[in-house]
Amino acid sequence: MPDYDVIILGAGAAGMMAGIEAGRRGRRVLVVDHARDPGEKIRISGGGRCNFTNVNATHTIGRERFLSRNPRFALSALSRYTPEMFIDKVKKHGIAFHEKTLGQLFCDGPATQIVAMLTHELRQAGAAIWTGRQVGSIARVGDDFDVVIGDGRVTAASLVVATGGKSIPKMGATGLAYDIARQFGLSVTETRPALVPLMFEPGALEKLKPLAGVSTNAVVSHGKTRFEEALLFTHRGLSGPAILQISSYWREGDAISVDLLPDEDAMEFLRAARKASPKLHIQTILSEKLPKRLAQLIGDIIDQPGMIGDLSDKKLQAAANIVKNWTLKPVGSEGYRTAEVTLGGIDTKGLDAKTMMARAVPGLYFVGEAVDVTGWLGGYNFQWAWASGWAAGQDA
Ligand code: FDA
Repeated sequence: MPDYDVIILGAGAAGMMAGIEAGRRGRRVLVVDHARDPGEKIRISGGGRCNFTNVNATHTIGRERFLSRNPRFALSALSRYTPEMFIDKVKKHGIAFHEKTLGQLFCDGPATQIVAMLTHELRQAGAAIWTGRQVGSIARVGDDFDVVIGDGRVTAASLVVATGGKSIPKMGATGLAYDIARQFGLSVTETRPALVPLMFEPGALEKLKPLAGVSTNAVVSHGKTRFEEALLFTHRGLSGPAILQISSYWREGDAISVDLLPDEDAMEFLRAARKASPKLHIQTILSEKLPKRLAQLIGDIIDQPGMIGDLSDKKLQAAANIVKNWTLKPVGSEGYRTAEVTLGGIDTKGLDAKTMMARAVPGLYFVGEAVDVTGWLGGYNFQWAWASGWAAGQDA
């Protein structure tokens, strides 16, 4: 008889969810984490307010909002454990929340309320939680898994791997899930930092740097993918929700395009300004619509220092094109140091979409960010963690 029915590696969003569900089914559950406290990423998420789900993350409308080599894989778990089910849990615990924008639900108070809710439910479900423990080697012994934890060994019939991706190593992120997957013959797709600020080569950065702290609404595009959200200039390059979103699609060598006046016909605006205020410089005109320092930079790029009244239609059109289609070529991203998530991961072709169990290894499950399913910014990643953890918890 093994020591436990289920060992869950990782007391993050997906691991705690799996533990709650398996425990409620009467399974003897042990959740292990090397961090001192469970749910550390939940605690810092959403600027400390945890954007715990997105009302649009259902399997029907949300399907293109999850990136994966097989985008259909996530639909099963997402349709069985919906945002409404997590919202009910949050309400049951009396946690106040609000919709910020674009279906994103945030706690009114600190994100630690979500951590407390999950650890409470875990304990109520009878699960043991061991934090501050190192996970060592893992072996299959008969039908069971034998896991070295700290100085000892623990056995279980099922092993749920919920140790997340590589983002923010300083917080304890490791590639353990990928190593376990490879050990048991599962493939791992290429991983890369996602939902991450983008950086520029020194020449371009020199021009952008004076804008550090400036934020504006923009449409940022990469090919056919576009996001209209805030764009933030930093002393390293560009950030803000629009950039974080596009970073999941951008690849080295690609350019991105920025529309700084998404709701306007820039040519019409400039023409009207030329008629109304012919003696003004284009910078001054643009600063009616854009933050002043940004208007100055765009004015420098447009490079028409004279009065707007002297500019031909052709020159005005060239200026409008820059405002509507400012092309930038990032050299890289800030990497896993600041990435909110890891794109790629355990190849879904080796997993059963309903249970998250490895097809070739009965009893071995992978959930959450470790799997090759990555959501958009805005609560989609937590919804995936809850849903995939829940799915494994019904089966493990
Ligand atoms: P998660 O990373 O939560 O948990 C993995 C656990 O495994 C951790 O507790 C870790 O300590 C443990 N672990 C790792 N390696 C181990 C090892 N070798 N041995 C033992 N334990 C190990 N998403 C969202 O939807 N809304 C939001 O507001 C935010 N905000 C946000 C802010 C920031 C700064 C970051 C970095 C990320 C977000 N995210 C987010 C993304 C979200 O945090 C992420 O998608 C989920 O936490 C993934 O849940 P998992 O349970 O899969 O991994």
